Amino acid sequence: MYRITESRRLTPEAVLLKIEAPRIARKRKAGQFVIIRVDETGERFPLTIVDSDPSTGTITLVVQEVGTSTKKLGRRRTGESILDLTGPLGHPTGVKKWGRVACVAGGIGVAEVLPVIKAIRGAGNIALAIIGARTQDLIILEDEMREAASELYITTDDGSYGRRGLVTDVLCDLINNGSIPDRVFAIGPVPMMRAVTALTRPYNIPTIVSLNALMVDGTGMCGCCRVSVGGETKFTCVDGPDFDAHQVDFEELVQRQKIYLPQEKESLQRYEGF
Ligand SMILES: Cc1cc2nc3c(=O)[nH]c(=O)nc-3n(C[C@H](O)[C@H](O)[C@H](O)COP(=O)(O)OP(=O)(O)OC[C@H]3O[C@@H](n4cnc5c(N)ncnc54)[C@H](O)[C@@H]3O)c2cc1C
Ligand code: FES
Repeated sequence: MYRITESRRLTPEAVLLKIEAPRIARKRKAGQFVIIRVDETGERFPLTIVDSDPSTGTITLVVQEVGTSTKKLGRRRTGESILDLTGPLGHPTGVKKWGRVACVAGGIGVAEVLPVIKAIRGAGNIALAIIGARTQDLIILEDEMREAASELYITTDDGSYGRRGLVTDVLCDLINNGSIPDRVFAIGPVPMMRAVTALTRPYNIPTIVSLNALMVDGTGMCGCCRVSVGGETKFTCVDGPDFDAHQVDFEELVQRQKIYLPQEKESLQRYEGF
C-alpha cells in the first residue's frame, strides 16, 4: 500500500496528490511515469511523475478525472492509500543544450510538461512555456510554471484569462515574428499535439511529443500502447513516451484511443451508480 500524504484539488477536474514512494522518488527523471492501481477491482493506468522529494520519499502526481479510475483516485483523501504503484517507467526525456525551447501544453499536459521544463532550463536552455486551457478555472500550476520557465504564455479558449485562443496561436506568432524556437516539446490532448506538429513541420523545427496511448502493463508485454512512428511499430511504455512528432501516425493513435469507449462509458455509469 502507498500512503497519500497530500490530496489537494486544483480545479473542478484536477487533483494533486503526494504519495509515499521513496524508491521512485529517488530514481525518477523528467518524462517518466508510474502505473497505478487504486484498489483490488481497479484497472492499471499511467500517470506522469510531476515532481518528487527524495527527502520525504514522496512523488507528486496530478490527475484529471475523466473516467472510473481517475475519479476513484481523485476521491482518495490525505492519509488514505492506494494499492499498487509501479515505476519509474518509460525513458526519461532526452535533454541537451539547444538554445530556445518552446514547451507547449494543454489541459492536464501542463502538469506533465512541468518536469520537462525544469530539466530543459537546468540544461542551460531558454524555456518558453506556452500553456492553455478551455477557461480560467481549469488553468493549473500557474505559479510553478512561472517559476520554472524563462517566459510564460497563457491562453484560454474563451478569453477568460491570458490570451484568447489556442496555444498554437502563440507558437504561430513566435514563428511568424522570426523567433523560431530551436526545438519544440508538445504534451497534451492528441489534437493539440497534432496541430503543433503540423505547424513546426514546414519549418523543420525538431518537435517531440509525449504520447498518451492506452496502457495496461506498462512493461512492453501486452501491446496495448502500440503506436506507429516512422512506419515502425513502437510500444509507448518502453520505447517512449517521447517520440519525434514528425514521424508519428496520429490518425492511428486517435483510432486506438477510441477502442474501449463503450466499455469505459459502461464502467463509469456503474461506478457513478446511474
Ligand atoms: C505516459 C502517460 C502519462 C499520463 N499522464 C497523465 C497525468 O499525469 N495525468 C492525467 O490525468 N492523465 C495522464 N495520462 C492519461 C491517463 O492515463 C488516462 O486519463 C486514464 O488512464 C483514464 O482512465 P479512466 O479509467 O479514468 O478513464 P477511461 O474510462 O479509461 O477513459 C475516459 C475517457 O478518457 C479517455 N482516455 C483514456 N485513456 C486516455 C489516455 N491515455 N489519454 C487520453 N485520453 C484517454 C478515453 O478515451 C475516454 O474518453 C497519461 C497517459 C499516459 C500514456
Ligand atoms: S502498456 Fe503493455 S506494452 Fe505498453
